[in-house]
Amino acid sequence: MAEKFEIKSLSEKDFLEILEMEKRIYPKALRQGQALLEDIKKGNGLEYSIIIPGIAYLIAVDKEDSTVYLEDIAVMPEAQRQGIGWKMAQKLIKKMQNKAKKQGKPALLSMHLREASQKLFKKHEEDLAKMDAKIIKEEFLQAYYKNGENAIYRIYKIIF
Ligand SMILES: CC(C)(COP(=O)(O)OP(=O)(O)OC[C@H]1O[C@@H](n2cnc3c(N)ncnc32)[C@H](O)[C@@H]1OP(=O)(O)O)[C@@H](O)C(=O)NCCC(=O)NCCS
Repeated sequence: MAEKFEIKSLSEKDFLEILEMEKRIYPKALRQGQALLEDIKKGNGLEYSIIIPGIAYLIAVDKEDSTVYLEDIAVMPEAQRQGIGWKMAQKLIKKMQNKAKKQGKPALLSMHLREASQKLFKKHEEDLAKMDAKIIKEEFLQAYYKNGENAIYRIYKIIF
């Protein structure tokens, strides 16, 4: 099913659509809204972020600690569990591998994972290992989100 969709790099023209999708995907307490768009602009986010218009998006930005931070990975409720989230994650990792190759050093991908995305990354543990994405740091954060949900903070080292 995911094969049918056009996975595009994000552009500023897509910003409104990101906010519309975010409203459908997240309850109010978890929405970032305008702050998400500011982070994209500040953090060179157009280089890494992805959109499947009307269906899904992935936002990743440069952080001051020299990691690329996976700010959000989100699929519309009716399109979840069809492999789209994983397709986008793979695309990000490939973009980072290309950049690592150009720079001649591994790239670091950091993230806070909620329950659903923890399961997504767990499901694809072997695929990640095959892509040379290795966990180098992991921390459990109790009630990290405003709705009380726990998070795992994780950093993957991505080798080219
Ligand atoms: C997390 C998310 C991006 C995954 O995208 P997806 O396209 O549904 O994921 P895939 O189809 O590639 O992979 C599916 C796997 O992800 C996990 N998963 C996806 N949605 C889940 C849910 N609602 N509850 C529990 N696990 C879930 C499962 O392991 C699932 O495998 P399974 O279907 O074999 O059980 C998507 O479910 C989503 O947008 N959720 C709401 C927003 C969110 O929590 N984003 C994470 C922010 S850190």
